[in-house]
Amino acid sequence: MTMEKKYIAQWSCPSNIALVKYWGKLPNQIPMNPSLSLTLKNSVTTTTVSAQNLNAPFELNYLFHGEHNAAFSKRIQSVLETWQEHFPFLKNGQWRIESENSFPHSAGIASSASAMGALALSLCSIEHEILGTLNTSESFQRKASYLARLASGSAARSIYPGIVSWGTSELVENSSDEYATPLSIDVHPSVLHLNDAILIVDDQPKKVSSSAGHQLMNNHPYRNNRIEQANNNHKSIIECLTSGDFQQFSTIVENEAMSIHSLMMSSTPWYSLLHANTFEIINRIQYFRAQNNIPVCFTLDAGPNVHVIYPPNVKQQVESFIQTELKPFFKKYQPDEMGNGPEQLK
Ligand code: DP6
Repeated sequence: MTMEKKYIAQWSCPSNIALVKYWGKLPNQIPMNPSLSLTLKNSVTTTTVSAQNLNAPFELNYLFHGEHNAAFSKRIQSVLETWQEHFPFLKNGQWRIESENSFPHSAGIASSASAMGALALSLCSIEHEILGTLNTSESFQRKASYLARLASGSAARSIYPGIVSWGTSELVENSSDEYATPLSIDVHPSVLHLNDAILIVDDQPKKVSSSAGHQLMNNHPYRNNRIEQANNNHKSIIECLTSGDFQQFSTIVENEAMSIHSLMMSSTPWYSLLHANTFEIINRIQYFRAQNNIPVCFTLDAGPNVHVIYPPNVKQQVESFIQTELKPFFKKYQPDEMGNGPEQLK
């Protein structure tokens, strides 16, 4: 490596939506239970990392949508410090990181997964360039997933396309608590591709962060039952994905969404992130499904927004239901679907 050489890497990384939720963690970002998610397509973060003068004292210049952002910059700085142990070259040098989201800022879509995924992938590319390591796509993705996890647990899953599992599970080959793994089962054709219509009920920042929510699981009275429930749901959802049983799939996905929100409400101190309109939407989805026998269900992340999950063959019916019956209850609508995973741009 020469002092003058400039290293540059650019990746786009999608967000993901968990069907079986990661809720609660042990030290070192180890999840209390296995989780499973869909990697999305349209909700992506694009990050460009450049580094030069790698022997100079460490310096970070961070820009979000072309502008300085003190809060984000502080978070990135602290993530880079955590990663120094795994990227020795990160201790020095002049670093410039630019990031942008494809979805409107503060749209209420969880962006830490895509942001931390894109950053981890970019730094793995820089490592490869400097040290010539991470030669196989498997070692590259595994390291990126491991590091993304250290920055934000759910980000570990965004490194892979399609349906992704994170956390030790007998049913998932090469599963680990330290990194995610793409699901290697034969998924039934009827659920091979899924759409996720994201209905933004509220675009304000959350009043309680996910990290704080995870912490409240440490002494939660239902902690052990939650771990058992999530393990069972993780196993059952893999069975549904194999058999294509959408009815059972919906039961599990909705049970997971309502369970994590119930855990928030039964924490000490308790809190709730749900809005009256969230309930209005989910009640209407249940009714619509029962009346029309259409495969559609909902999930929620740690916030009031509703993710409407359905297979592509009912797109027209579900879209028209959203436009005619749900529209008064959400502010913005971001159509999304399962995607092909992160993309290296530079
Ligand atoms: C409800 O990954 O945002 O979306 O590890 O503290 O960064 P940290 O938490 P985060 O938690 C995500 C919680 C969730 C469920 C999920 O994505 O599995």
